[in-house]
Amino acid sequence: MKAYNLAVVGATGMVGRKFLQILEEKKLPIENYYFFSSARSAGKQIEFMGKKYTVEKLTENALDNKKIDIALFSAGGSTSKKFAPVFVSKGSVVIDNSSAWRMDDKVPLVVPEVNPEAIKSHKGIIANPNCSTIQAVVALKPLHDKYKIKRIVYSTYQAVSGAGMGGYQDLEMGLKGEKPKKFPHPIAGNCLPHIDEFLPNGYTKEEMKMINETKKILNDYSLKITATTVRVPVFHGHSESINVEFERDFDLDELKQTLSQAPGIIVIDNPEKLEYPMPIYAEDKDEVFVGRIRRDESVKSGVNLWVVADNIRKGAATNTVQIAQQLIKFWEER
Ligand code: A2P
Repeated sequence: MKAYNLAVVGATGMVGRKFLQILEEKKLPIENYYFFSSARSAGKQIEFMGKKYTVEKLTENALDNKKIDIALFSAGGSTSKKFAPVFVSKGSVVIDNSSAWRMDDKVPLVVPEVNPEAIKSHKGIIANPNCSTIQAVVALKPLHDKYKIKRIVYSTYQAVSGAGMGGYQDLEMGLKGEKPKKFPHPIAGNCLPHIDEFLPNGYTKEEMKMINETKKILNDYSLKITATTVRVPVFHGHSESINVEFERDFDLDELKQTLSQAPGIIVIDNPEKLEYPMPIYAEDKDEVFVGRIRRDESVKSGVNLWVVADNIRKGAATNTVQIAQQLIKFWEER
């Protein structure tokens, strides 16, 4: 197997650091690593796989004399918009964690358990979906294949780490009585029904991301979807209540078995033993946890699910690294 060169853009951020941890765990066939940040962290030392690396400032010239096969980006939308094309022009494939390219028709939006084949159509950029969307579609894909989903109602309970270092610090400092810097209101002891900016239709961008990205990943634009996304005072792990209506009838035991056999899912559903998915269990795990699986008795064929995952792992870094693994697999099969 060939060895590749890999760059991490945003290596000092919340997701960037998790990239490093997961790259250490998954042992991809990588020969050389390069780490980039803004001017703020440039020059910092990073310990990675027993070696010391210096973080470089990302500039137009930063790629001169470097041959980078894969670049994992998590440095915000404007950095991705500006620099992903620069990397692509130098022969890299960019796997981007921001929302900058996700809805571009030429850019595949990939969750490896759901639509790995989409990777093959890339033109240099592959997008990693929104954290809330990833865990939802991992749970929904096997059900859509079997029972054909008609309508989805998403309600989310999202951790502060999803808002980067600033979000994390707002909860940490807020618990000590300090005022928020990242969020518009205190998050300690509070819930904010507001993630990302508000749009003219009254939804937030986060809600529209879930709606539009779900349709793109499941490749079904006939789906009816609505969403309410909420920031809660949890450090790690997004939880989601997902109400689903199907075209076809289903047997509840069979549906539960379908979920437990699907890739990337662990079903925890023993209400009699008070066992159900919670963010504290999902922390530092790569799987999506599903529980509270019960029939929606208000419609002909519907189910309620409670879906929890580590938003920085499966919701971001793990999924991005899994895309890189799958990309390398396709390269090796050529
Ligand atoms: P820096 O450490 O220099 O600020 P988070 O989402 O946790 O706030 O992290 C954002 C990441 O993106 C950080 O690594 C940050 O680097 C990096 N970043 C922000 N702006 C740029 C930029 N213009 N060029 C490269 N990296 C950037």
